[in-house]
Amino acid sequence: MKPPHLLLPLLSLPFTLAQQLQQITNFGPAIPSKAKMFIYAPADLPPNPAILVGVHYCTGTAQGYYNGSPYKRLADEKKFVVVYPESPNSGGCWDVSSRATLKRNGGADSNAIANMARWAVKRYKADKRRVFVIGESSGGMMASILAAAYPDLFAAVINYSGVAAGCFFTDSVAGWNGNCSGGRMDSTREEWARWVLDAYPGFKGTRPRMQVYHGSVDDVIAPANYNYSIAQWTTVFGYPETPLEEKRDVPERGYTTQVFGKRLTGIWAEGVGHGVPVHGEEDMKFFGL
Ligand SMILES: *[C@@H]1O[C@H](CO)[C@@H](O)[C@H](O)[C@H]1NC(C)=O
Ligand SMILES: *[C@@H]1O[C@H](CO)[C@@H](O)[C@H](O)[C@H]1NC(C)=O
Ligand SMILES: *[C@@H]1O[C@H](CO)[C@@H](O)[C@H](O)[C@H]1NC(C)=O
Repeated sequence: MKPPHLLLPLLSLPFTLAQQLQQITNFGPAIPSKAKMFIYAPADLPPNPAILVGVHYCTGTAQGYYNGSPYKRLADEKKFVVVYPESPNSGGCWDVSSRATLKRNGGADSNAIANMARWAVKRYKADKRRVFVIGESSGGMMASILAAAYPDLFAAVINYSGVAAGCFFTDSVAGWNGNCSGGRMDSTREEWARWVLDAYPGFKGTRPRMQVYHGSVDDVIAPANYNYSIAQWTTVFGYPETPLEEKRDVPERGYTTQVFGKRLTGIWAEGVGHGVPVHGEEDMKFFGL
């Protein structure tokens, strides 16, 4: 979540900039979610490019995330396509709380985003091993759900200041789970893993590589959420709870990178609040772009 003032400069942007971001209206079968799809593709794409899905925070828009995050610039530099979904819900948060969104092909926002990714893969004949998701805050929560419900579609997922899949469950659309945001959950490791396993029952393939950032003084999504997510994904991957490797001051001073296994890295940002600053270059490294 970003303070609303960050969105204001967007309103005065020259129209030419807005034209670079294109809306796609027919990206998949009709489903209940009315999420919108926008896309940015650099002119000189190589064959079989990578796709990055960039999921905005609450109060966000596709245009806002396009302007305010580094991924458009990085796409120009490294030649990949960026899909910018836009939330249909009032307040601009994603539905990360309904039963439908927590299920594969359940018809809710997560399903709409998966359809956008599928559309882009087809349209650009993308390299299926390089379809990635990045999300911030509410978008980070969505990233966890996409990883859980569409492990076959996404190769790697990065999540800034989000929550574990299922943590925000309220059984209502785009609800706010205060127990989750407040860090007052007492789920076991198995209960955390269950949300992921139930999102796509019977899935036996390779799951996406995951990277999780969380700030130690996050006052919107309590820091305990870092632990929930580590509990969730270490259990799913069958990794030990304690990191195999801990790198201090990586990727920058005050941050600690914890490697739990080949597919899971956590980054604990000491003294950082909600909305850990985006580390675009690091993200590219993680994705191998
Ligand atoms: C996103 O980050 C949160 C908080 O650090 C964590 O609980 C959640 O599991 C993460 N999701 C993914 C997909 O890594
Ligand atoms: C939050 O926790 C309280 C106490 O355990 C419980 O009564 C309440 O139903 C929980 N709320 C949600 C949204 O899960
Ligand atoms: C998270 O887990 C670590 C390691 O087990 C522990 O030291 C820390 O207190 C936990 N943090 C929260 C906020 O629960």
